[in-house]
Amino acid sequence: MSFVALWAVAMAAHAQGKTADEFDESKMVYKSNPATLSNQRHTGPFAVGSSLSFDAAIKPLDRARVKTIQIDTTHKVIDLAPGVKFSAWTFGDQVPGPVVRARVGDTIRFSMTNRSDEIAPAAISFAAPMMHSMDFHSAMVSPQDKYRSIAPGQTISFEFTPNYPGVFMYHCGTPMILEHIASGMYGVMVVEPRNGYPTKVDREYVVVQSEFYTKRDPDGRKIEGQPLYVLDTERVRAKAPTYTVFNGRYNGMVDKPLFAKPGERVRLFVLNVGPSNTSSFHVVGTIFDRVWLDGNPHNELRGMQTVLLGSSSGAIVEFRIPEKGKYIMVDHHFANASQGAIGLIDASGGTSEREIEHNNISVTATPIDAPAAKGKANFENKCLACHAVGGGDKVGPDLLGVTKRRTDDWLQRWLMSPQKMLASDATAKAMLKKYTLPMPDQGLSEDDARQLIRYFHWFDEQGKPAPAGAARQP
Ligand code: CU
Ligand code: CU
Repeated sequence: MSFVALWAVAMAAHAQGKTADEFDESKMVYKSNPATLSNQRHTGPFAVGSSLSFDAAIKPLDRARVKTIQIDTTHKVIDLAPGVKFSAWTFGDQVPGPVVRARVGDTIRFSMTNRSDEIAPAAISFAAPMMHSMDFHSAMVSPQDKYRSIAPGQTISFEFTPNYPGVFMYHCGTPMILEHIASGMYGVMVVEPRNGYPTKVDREYVVVQSEFYTKRDPDGRKIEGQPLYVLDTERVRAKAPTYTVFNGRYNGMVDKPLFAKPGERVRLFVLNVGPSNTSSFHVVGTIFDRVWLDGNPHNELRGMQTVLLGSSSGAIVEFRIPEKGKYIMVDHHFANASQGAIGLIDASGGTSEREIEHNNISVTATPIDAPAAKGKANFENKCLACHAVGGGDKVGPDLLGVTKRRTDDWLQRWLMSPQKMLASDATAKAMLKKYTLPMPDQGLSEDDARQLIRYFHWFDEQGKPAPAGAARQP
């Protein structure tokens, strides 16, 4: 090639921006108008905007260059775990808050009313109204101006332009920040590179890990007949959570798996909120072909088994679903996984969501014997996420025939203290090897365990329960 031809190629590449710095500071936006405050409150829905998603299945990018989003704060009791109704503070009336999706250079026109003083039927609240604020890690703005706290009934509005791509945390920044985050005030903002991602995928999901620090309400208040749980401020300071979960719910994505098909490529936007612990995010059965630390493709790692995320660290992980199966997402710090940081990507070839949700137990069949009936209720509450009866192995073994495989005495010890058994008992150790995930300690009393075993005996005496297809029929 002649010198002139080389020169022409170089100039063409330059014109296409190939030699330009993607993060050229001279192109970044550092100025924005001062935030405005008003006493005009939002009414109606607590979160509005076409660039918002409300669950793990994140919507594709909204192409509009200006994105108007409303995310209000509320106080609300959330279902954190079976039987655990937790008094939370929220963005958009959900924990985590809605996912915002934008791209570098977009204008984000944000507004928020502090609606912590509203008692709507859908937002039963036990917490007193209080100041809240919004801090977007994706923005470069003056915290004293944009992130200031507003009183109940006030609305704050401001604009910003994300300069960097990433999986960014947003959260309330009102003191005590630790308590506001531990109460549920956080969410994710995904910022795409100006020209999109360099790879193609078939599915995209958002996974947010966070800790909860709960105790029974000292005043003994109840909601819908169940005890209320509130923030345990001592546990928060001791960094000793009672739950560590994905997307705001204990074993949430075991109950409602994410879907994929064998052979597909999956992109997960992962954020570890903390507030205080680390996540070692892992998907059992595959390898991340790409990890973009903090969600920026510039920070690329290849062929990773886990990605280590400190508090407020994000990542995009991409991987192929190699073959038919259920791929388990965990925090590989297994003490955290056992507190609920578990989810499933279901690529078992099921054709419908209904099939996955099947519990394989005939809903009409309930033991007449009272302890066994109590055992059944407890089973459906605590065990069904991971075990089937006669429907095959799920995360844990199929329990049909369990009373023929194990003695009552063994089952009693196993149900009451799985951790102790895993340390000392050969059968328990063998099960862990087979099923990978340790059975979480469910905090069962002696009676709870006895009733569960009565129920196990009951279904084993029934012979095989209703076939899977009949499970939800009357
Ligand atoms: Cu707050
Ligand atoms: Cu922050």
